[in-house]
Amino acid sequence: SLDSDPYRPNFHFTPKEKWMNDPNGLVYQNGQYHLFFQYYPDSTVWGPMHWGHAVSKDLLNWKEKPIALYPDSLGYIFSGSAVIDKNNTAGFGQDAMVAIFTYHNPEIEKTGSEKFQTQGIAYSLDEGETWTKYKGNPVIENPGIRDFRDPKVFWNEDLEKWQMLLAAKDHIEFFESEDLKDWKKLSDFRFNDQPELGVWECPDLFELQVAGSNEKKWVLIVSHGGESSPNGGSGTRYFVGEFDGKKFTTQQKESQWLDFGTDNYAGVSFNNVPDGRRIVIGWMSNWNYATTTPTKDWRSAMTLARELELMKDDRGYILKTTPVRELASVSKNIKMEQNTTEKGLEIKSEELSNSIISFEIDNPEGFNLVLANDSGNTYEIGYKDGTFYTNRKNSGIVDFNEKFTEKEPQKIPLGDLEKMKLKLIIDKSSIEIFLNEGEYAMTNLVYPKSPWNTLKIEHDENTKIKDLKTQKVNLILAN
Ligand code: FRU
Repeated sequence: SLDSDPYRPNFHFTPKEKWMNDPNGLVYQNGQYHLFFQYYPDSTVWGPMHWGHAVSKDLLNWKEKPIALYPDSLGYIFSGSAVIDKNNTAGFGQDAMVAIFTYHNPEIEKTGSEKFQTQGIAYSLDEGETWTKYKGNPVIENPGIRDFRDPKVFWNEDLEKWQMLLAAKDHIEFFESEDLKDWKKLSDFRFNDQPELGVWECPDLFELQVAGSNEKKWVLIVSHGGESSPNGGSGTRYFVGEFDGKKFTTQQKESQWLDFGTDNYAGVSFNNVPDGRRIVIGWMSNWNYATTTPTKDWRSAMTLARELELMKDDRGYILKTTPVRELASVSKNIKMEQNTTEKGLEIKSEELSNSIISFEIDNPEGFNLVLANDSGNTYEIGYKDGTFYTNRKNSGIVDFNEKFTEKEPQKIPLGDLEKMKLKLIIDKSSIEIFLNEGEYAMTNLVYPKSPWNTLKIEHDENTKIKDLKTQKVNLILAN
């Protein structure tokens, strides 16, 4: 109930209990989406990693399943991906679900050797219920690189080969294979970052058509630890370029970010989605404070599943992220009490903690939006002098970790805009903001001391608010 577990999201996946981090092995098979995840069943903080498991038919209603992969003598089971082996290339069986993951060996790490991360595989012939580890593990040995992990494998249609990306400390390595067991190194991808970003993690690569054209581009996604992201801590960026089956190249000069908020990390996309959509889920937290967030029996939620699309305009290529369309089918328009004033608008509703609020702003010279509750907590959103910002300094429980509010307000540099479209997706302990149909995203965790029930928008005289839509998300997950 609300009182006993005030921060358990209504419509974002959380494990029933204990610690979770990265999404792993995102794959679709026979009508179900599979979400595996970094999981430690003995504590609400990080520890020896397992792969937890959940399934969904619509990317929203998740049902948690028994643990899929347990640590073994080769190590903990770190992040990775899953594929469906339709041609039985590995010989495990027709349509075997094959997981490709990193073994992290704490014993080897203790000896001082750098070679404690290797890659292993396991397969399931019953849609992820039970798993068998491959006897020939590891399938890729460590070449002497300390951070060597998070394999993303996909089937390259053109080459009829498996291809793998691995995060290797400060670059990405590409491999290929005929059978998921024998891997051949192809190339490295590096980027001239000044200054260098934190450790490279959780890569992904896929091709997308540029909206409104026949042009196709490859998109490389990389998450970075340390103080890498625009607003502090861990964050995920993307590169748009070419991939010739061996090497990824880009003309891009600067980092572009998948999300400007503090709480979207390690996101990767699903394999084998039937309608060709490119769908990602991220871990809705930040290594800066993830192990100290004020939840009790469980820790961490996933972001909503989001669809990625590529567009191009005078800013260059932009990877748009929007919540998957399935969200619309569990959302319904509701009337919320509204008071219009000269300077803006006030909305009141007990449903705000479980809502989608969207509107358009014409001539946004400046505006300030405040989400508030009866405890005097506020979460601010606004736009001023070409900068979009959010601020959670006074959003409720914030003192569990000084890093949580260290870099408020969080900012997105936008420049001048003729209009701005905003969509806010508000759950009990998160706010996901999509700007201009997903050209920019901002994801923030918040821990208000009582549920949000007021939203106030104040704006400059010439600014107009249009097409305000208030919706309730009709979904309360069992966990
Ligand atoms: C990213 C990450 C991965 C690693 C996993 C360990 O958050 O550090 O690089 O595989 O978490 O849990």
